[in-house]
Amino acid sequence: MRKIFIAGNWKMNKGLQETKEFLATVIPELNKLKLDKVIPLIAPAYPFLEEALKGSFGSCMQVSAQDVSVHSEGAYTGEVSASMLASLGLKYCIVGHSECRQYHNETDSTVNTKILKLLENHITPLVCIGETLQQREENKTKEVVLGQLSGCLQNIKLVSGKELILAYEPVWAIGTGKTATPFQAQEVHNLIRNWLKSNYSEKVAAELSLLYGGSIKPGNMKELLDCEDIDGGLIGGASLKEEDFLEMVKIGKKSKGQEC
Ligand code: 13P
Repeated sequence: MRKIFIAGNWKMNKGLQETKEFLATVIPELNKLKLDKVIPLIAPAYPFLEEALKGSFGSCMQVSAQDVSVHSEGAYTGEVSASMLASLGLKYCIVGHSECRQYHNETDSTVNTKILKLLENHITPLVCIGETLQQREENKTKEVVLGQLSGCLQNIKLVSGKELILAYEPVWAIGTGKTATPFQAQEVHNLIRNWLKSNYSEKVAAELSLLYGGSIKPGNMKELLDCEDIDGGLIGGASLKEEDFLEMVKIGKKSKGQEC
């Protein structure tokens, strides 16, 4: 069975004190749960990664960065390289988020370089793809999603599906309160899974965790996880609240026939 990620993308929220408080509340509760297939994960801003790693040490909580530089080192003011993230002991990093694509003009080719840098540094990339509302309304979802997949994953060799995570985040569902229906999400996830079968292998397609993102909250998590090809969530707003985060982890633990 694939790993189910309950992944909180904190974006530009929570400072040092709030990060500490979140972990002080959530970690003891996570420690009471026997999580086998479910991986809780948070992605705080760069300055708080070390604190998050310290605060979750010895627990099942994983920590991710929200982005990485395309460069390895040098005169790139404000940027953080994959080797710097690796030196912290970080194991995950989000790339290709629609907000980075929109505000930093990130392209599939930039995302591709970032994935390569992360893999070279033994960090698992969590790669985001997804169409805009206009693209969906013009019936271009399939074309856009498959185009992003082939652009982002060009020349990326995967032997196992555990080396990378994909998140389908329809741009129109991010921060809007408008979640994709389970049918809409499953349809795209299935498309992605089949693309992985054709372009990698049955093994990679079967192992790779495909997350959905866009206005997830405890109230809609179960119906999304009930879909065959949805292996967790990349959650923005609702991941900031300790009780909601824990609730979503518990829903993950009961999903896919793990527990009644
Ligand atoms: P929301 O859950 O706030 O819609 O954000 C989703 C997202 O962008 C996660 O990366």
